Amino acid sequence: MIGLFDSGFGGLTVLRAVADALPDRRFLYFGDHAAAPYGNRSRDEIHHLTKAAVERLFAQGCRLVVLACNTAAATSLRRLQQEWLPVRHPDRRILGVLVPMVEAITGVPWMADLPTRPRDEKRRLVAVFATRQTVLSNAYPVEIGKRAPEVTVIQQACPQLASLIEAGAPRAEMRGLVRRYVEALMERTAGRPPDVVMLGCTHYPLVADLFAEALPRGLEILSQPDLAARSLTAYLARHPEIDSPRLPAGTRFLTTGDPRRVSLLGSQFFGRTVIFQGIGPNAAPAGRPDMAVGI
Ligand code: DGL
Repeated sequence: MIGLFDSGFGGLTVLRAVADALPDRRFLYFGDHAAAPYGNRSRDEIHHLTKAAVERLFAQGCRLVVLACNTAAATSLRRLQQEWLPVRHPDRRILGVLVPMVEAITGVPWMADLPTRPRDEKRRLVAVFATRQTVLSNAYPVEIGKRAPEVTVIQQACPQLASLIEAGAPRAEMRGLVRRYVEALMERTAGRPPDVVMLGCTHYPLVADLFAEALPRGLEILSQPDLAARSLTAYLARHPEIDSPRLPAGTRFLTTGDPRRVSLLGSQFFGRTVIFQGIGPNAAPAGRPDMAVGI
């Protein structure tokens, strides 16, 4: 199985694209709804929660886990890959959604040699909307800057947006909030529209139409779920040892939150009925049939 992890509902946007691109694979989705949102937590807290989530997905039999959460990937991925995995799980792999986004912006593969002098490319302005911790980590400006120094990255933290999405807030409330974040960004560009916009939080594609509405017309908004799906497909083609397409395909859903509430809202966000199985304090009582369903 391939594990996908997010603080809550956001990773469903990635799962949808990934499951469409890889219909023969089995997936296990884990939303840490009880602890969501992550974006306003400390780096150490996010690292601790992310490690625990990955450990849980490994324990369920996943050999590969995708951090379908920019906040977790920006604060924790490198640390987990370099310090923890080689010691604790040398045969397992962790990927994050940040890498395909950086590759798409820069046109430079993650593992390629970094350019030693400025590239002869047009200067571009890229806007990133993300959680507070993703912005504070500076992961996007740093990783993009290393590969494409001609790109200027301007970041806008949206500290309240993931919580409203998690709460299933009315769209009118989210529309006003998205407009304020877009206005705050545009003030800092002195009115110059960015060349490309990245929604650097997997929750935000759930309100992509509100961003499109608030941004100047015609701007390119990169689709992180599609980029992640393409990148994962290519990764699996290079790593045939991961997962076996012979197993029956399908997806199971786990949550640390209230499974009933999470299933209801999750089905709306995912676009088809999904039933989450509770784990942790909200776990289904022993003996209760497994509530997970395939898609
Ligand atoms: N969906 C997550 C991300 O991509 C995290 C949102 C949050 O929990 O604050 O950043």
